Amino acid sequence: MRAVVVERHGGPEVLAVAERADPKAGPGQLLVDVVAAGVNFMDIYQREGRPPYASGVPYVPGAEGAGSVVAVGAEVTEFALGDRVAWTGVPGSYAEQVVVPADRAVPVPDGVELEAAAAVMLQGMTAHYLCHSTYPVAAGDAVVVHAAAGGVGLLLTQMVKIRGGVVVGTTSTAEKAGLARQAGADHVAGYGDFGRVVRDVTDGAGAAVVYDGVGRATFDDSLDSLRPRGYLVLYGAASGPVPPLELQRLAAAGSLFVTRPTLGHYIARRDELLGRARALFTWIGRGDVNVHIGGTYPLADAARAHDDLGARRTTGKLLLLPR
Ligand SMILES: NC(=O)c1ccc[n+]([C@@H]2O[C@H](COP(=O)([O-])OP(=O)(O)OC[C@H]3O[C@@H](n4cnc5c(N)ncnc54)[C@H](OP(=O)(O)O)[C@@H]3O)[C@@H](O)[C@H]2O)c1
Repeated sequence: MRAVVVERHGGPEVLAVAERADPKAGPGQLLVDVVAAGVNFMDIYQREGRPPYASGVPYVPGAEGAGSVVAVGAEVTEFALGDRVAWTGVPGSYAEQVVVPADRAVPVPDGVELEAAAAVMLQGMTAHYLCHSTYPVAAGDAVVVHAAAGGVGLLLTQMVKIRGGVVVGTTSTAEKAGLARQAGADHVAGYGDFGRVVRDVTDGAGAAVVYDGVGRATFDDSLDSLRPRGYLVLYGAASGPVPPLELQRLAAAGSLFVTRPTLGHYIARRDELLGRARALFTWIGRGDVNVHIGGTYPLADAARAHDDLGARRTTGKLLLLPR
């Protein structure tokens, strides 16, 4: 089978297609023909060799996708040949075939395209846990969503609106601002003036929560935009990692909360994984949540996909289509 293989850490150019031995499903595993593999920021950090994401070389990147089961390993009772499944947190997904542990696979219902399923396994479940579990948004809450036209951002904006929040989204271009508004953002600001917009919208009170996947460039202004006892949910570092934080700042700024969550801890139990996936697929099937696929690429163009994502040229989700 063909797969993208990384022989050494580095820039997008280290992503190259190569022939690999066909994988086999062992006990408790599924062999899946990949229809779509998701491209994520984490894949860039891993390719660059940034701790804690780096893995040994050579490796096949990608951790997310969807496809059809073509072989079922011993001891698997939940899935059968031909089932449509999706996954996240499974290494080696930039490939024509991947082995998926059955306890990490989720069934994709009729009425949800496999491309859409692949597009929401990481970013959609992230958006779900951020606004349902990390800080459960309440009706009327003022909520900042940074990079609101991005993969997580567009989905998170829609989910916060479902929960009745008031979204102040940030974007870097007019085109991205338009997409954020289409997703339901009540106000769209730039990275330099979102704090002022939050104060205007809340009569000076501040936001209940800031969902910040941008990191270094936004962190300080994010903290400053919160109401007393507000939550800064730092879930990523698209602009670079945030320097160490003096905790006393949180007291002075209003007894604030800061958390640095990661998806793995919010889908560790199978019932949680299935519950979040079911919620997403139900919204998608009903048309309550729109999945914006901003770009699709053949395996051979994985480098271009990484370059586009890292250079902030993309909106919504990027997918590799191996076949
Ligand atoms: N903790 C978790 O569980 C978890 C899960 C998924 C993703 N993440 C993180 O969430 C963040 C967003 O991921 P995503 O896949 O949805 O990406 P994305 O939002 O589609 O892309 C990143 C966006 O960030 C904005 N950005 C601002 N400053 C940037 C900079 N200096 N360089 C690059 N981009 C910049 C850009 O939007 P504008 O051009 O509009 O500014 C860019 O399009 C990433 O940091 C990712 O690692 C965390």
